Amino acid sequence: MSNSIIQHTSLTAYAPASIGNVSLGFDLLGAALKPIDGSLLGDEVKIESAEQFELTVEGRFADKLPADPASNIVTQCYHHYLQCLVNKGVDVDALPKVAMTLYKHLPIGSGLGSSASSIVAAFHGLNQFFTDVLGTTPFNKSDLLLMMGELEGQISGSVHYDNVAPCFLGGLTLMSEYKDQVALPLPSFNNWYWVSCYSGITVSTAAARAILPKEVPMAITIQFGRQLAVFVDALYRQDENLAAAMMTDVIAEPYRKSLLPHFDESREFAKQQGALAFGISGSGPSVFAVCDSLEKATIINQWLADNYIQNDTGFSHICQLDQQGAVVY
Ligand code: HSE
Repeated sequence: MSNSIIQHTSLTAYAPASIGNVSLGFDLLGAALKPIDGSLLGDEVKIESAEQFELTVEGRFADKLPADPASNIVTQCYHHYLQCLVNKGVDVDALPKVAMTLYKHLPIGSGLGSSASSIVAAFHGLNQFFTDVLGTTPFNKSDLLLMMGELEGQISGSVHYDNVAPCFLGGLTLMSEYKDQVALPLPSFNNWYWVSCYSGITVSTAAARAILPKEVPMAITIQFGRQLAVFVDALYRQDENLAAAMMTDVIAEPYRKSLLPHFDESREFAKQQGALAFGISGSGPSVFAVCDSLEKATIINQWLADNYIQNDTGFSHICQLDQQGAVVY
């Protein structure tokens, strides 16, 4: 790899919010979100050449992050990325240092893949920055995904890719965790709208994992496997009704919904209005409803905004899948 250094300005990486689990695929399925009104629903990380490393945090949820930049996940991503360059034989002392700015647009502990969004934006941005500097791409998508999963694991207490993979790659993704095929893209339904509502309260992923049983009974295991397999088959055959019928959570929701005020009545309303599916987004408290028309999505979005949101931190969006995933501009 050439270490010839070129002049550099700056770039910004954006990484979208995501729904982990998508109800039926605990730790194995994820979906990237894009509000249909064009608003950003994801974190941004700006990277510029600098004399020495520094991290600045801005944005609506900046004050919810640790005050010490050394404890910020983006700083940890930077150090991890540099170490991976060292492991590859790159002389990192000859590289420019970077100033990074995290624009923290997503609430933490929201179930929207907030930490994944910061991590993905940081790694994707760093890889593009050092591609420009070195004149060659240091790491491929699979290398990056492994790094992202590792850092996500440091935050949530266990390595799971169901937020970082869709956030990075876009669309609906299935984790295979087989060699360098960490995540597989799945087909989806272009006419589906995904209403995503954040209630405004905080649920830590580690806490939401701690309340789950350590073992799952045989009958539940078989139902889980059947639903996930049939769902994937239905996606490939574009059988909307069958796919939607498989979208129930037999692993986490029965335990986690006790942490979510108004969950049952929200689902009841969504179902009455014709939602194809309703569930917890990641480890909550956000919820999502899948609709096959904008009309239904609009009614459910308004009802959730009026009834599921608990305080002025909450918000609700009508989304489609973000097929692009992380981008640099
Ligand atoms: N699969 C993870 C969980 C997602 O449900 O704990 C967390 O966003």
